[in-house]
Amino acid sequence: MKEVPDTAVLAARLLPWFRRHGRRHLPWQSDPTPYRVWISEVMLQQTQVETAIPYFQQFIERFPDVGSLAAASLDEVLHLWSGLGYYARARNLHRAANEIVLRRDRQIPETLVELMALPGVGRSTAGAVLALARGQRHAILDGNVKRVLARMFCIRDRPGNSETTARLWQLADQCTPTARVAEYTQAIMDLGATVCTRANPGCNHCPVSADCGALAANCVQELPARRIRGTRRLRQTQMVFVLRNGREVLLRKRAPQGIWGGLWVPPEFPRAAVARAWCGSTFGVATRQLQRLPVLRHSFTHFDLDIESWVLKLQHDNSRVEEPGSVWYTYDAPQSLGLPAPVSRLIEACFADDKNGSMRDARPRGGRPRPRALSG
Ligand code: ADE
Repeated sequence: MKEVPDTAVLAARLLPWFRRHGRRHLPWQSDPTPYRVWISEVMLQQTQVETAIPYFQQFIERFPDVGSLAAASLDEVLHLWSGLGYYARARNLHRAANEIVLRRDRQIPETLVELMALPGVGRSTAGAVLALARGQRHAILDGNVKRVLARMFCIRDRPGNSETTARLWQLADQCTPTARVAEYTQAIMDLGATVCTRANPGCNHCPVSADCGALAANCVQELPARRIRGTRRLRQTQMVFVLRNGREVLLRKRAPQGIWGGLWVPPEFPRAAVARAWCGSTFGVATRQLQRLPVLRHSFTHFDLDIESWVLKLQHDNSRVEEPGSVWYTYDAPQSLGLPAPVSRLIEACFADDKNGSMRDARPRGGRPRPRALSG
């Protein structure tokens, strides 16, 4: 078997490859300021580049600098994040922008430790911001980089335990060159995303194949070792879409933390009987006046959520539900609020004329691109 490769080899092979094959025209690369790189890196946590691009463009257009982001309402930030999933990322960005404005004179920190003190900024994101925007020598270790390193250095331990993570960080640091750090950082991410992929690695056109420990040991497909995952849970919820005046739907703001924290959803209930009871006591309607939509299954990282939906069309205005934290969301001229992607789809289905194909064909409205979210 081959010896473990020298850590200097990776940069030596990757830098020339990057010139020809790397991604060098991504929107945040045209003007890689710390602010733009920070936003892009947060969007790219758990999200593919192609999905993130239109969100990045709209976000930067609306919030071109840290001051405009801090001054915005969280509702508007979540609105521009709607569909991207993992909404804690947006809430943290907003909090961090406020900290930067209030305590740091609008300057994005220039050191790893200070950047990591901001909400939502871990070591890899901080390293990427400093490497890509400032050319500082810092390692990164996202999912793509972990895979490249695990294969190249033939690391068979399961990811996730602290010793494996420490070993990978050590290798990531040793492989990071002292010069051309920004290019190297982008190059190793690009290699992981486009060549050294999990399912279909392109070893025959990989610039480091001659030095890859996993290829030499014929175990590329097995590395990195898979995490042992518990069984996926299935949860259920009942949503009641109350429509008023034909073009409005009642939404409530969720508590700020947790899944969909700060986003707007219809009244939710744990069981159908409770949903029916609420409709009866609030609006005096019988169950048979409720229309049902097909169940929509939505996948989160650790569980699936089955959403059962009931549609209640009010024949006349009803102000009994106008509690604080609720809004009549106007379908034709929507307010700037954050909506989870499945709620957008269900609202679309509620208003769709074509009842048969509505769930399958429903697309969120509003003129903004709503690319497919990985989750959330
Ligand atoms: N994933 C995380 N950061 C990235 C970047 N800058 N380019 C491509 N993929 C990434």
